[in-house]
Amino acid sequence: MPSTNPDYALLARQLEALLDEGDWLVNSAQTCAFVMQHVPELNWVGFYLQRQPERLTLGPFQGKPACNPIPFDKGVCGAAARTRTTQRIDDVHAVADHIACDAASNAELVIPVVRDSVLWGVLDLDSPRHARFSEEDQVGIERLVSVFVERTHLPDLFTSR
Ligand code: SME
Repeated sequence: MPSTNPDYALLARQLEALLDEGDWLVNSAQTCAFVMQHVPELNWVGFYLQRQPERLTLGPFQGKPACNPIPFDKGVCGAAARTRTTQRIDDVHAVADHIACDAASNAELVIPVVRDSVLWGVLDLDSPRHARFSEEDQVGIERLVSVFVERTHLPDLFTSR
């Protein structure tokens, strides 16, 4: 039986209280841990950051070691970065260019992190349960990402090489 979804409005208020410093590294690490702790049936949660043009670099995460880097033209994360739209996938094995970091993952939700029209990165959630993420989850987790963006100073992370 699937677990009951959390109260996302309550989680948004709790995350606001947790993210009180504005530091991007602290807040992104805390956000991953918070989501992993409070959203049931996840096996991986993490940020991928845009540090080079058209390419995502692994950032703070919870779960098994993951794939790095991810070009914008590959995978579910690449699609989220390229289109700047949330990708909600019921069965990742049906996505031709899905990048399989952990064989246990079956469903995926990837939310772009955008400030002032600039793509900063994405937040990626994986679940072992097919069709784990409902529209309610999408709206709720997009709200948590909005809290992260509002409460965090998102610096330019582009590297020089
Ligand atoms: N599955 C992702 C890659 C990242 S891992 O899930 C952590 C994708 O296809 O973009």
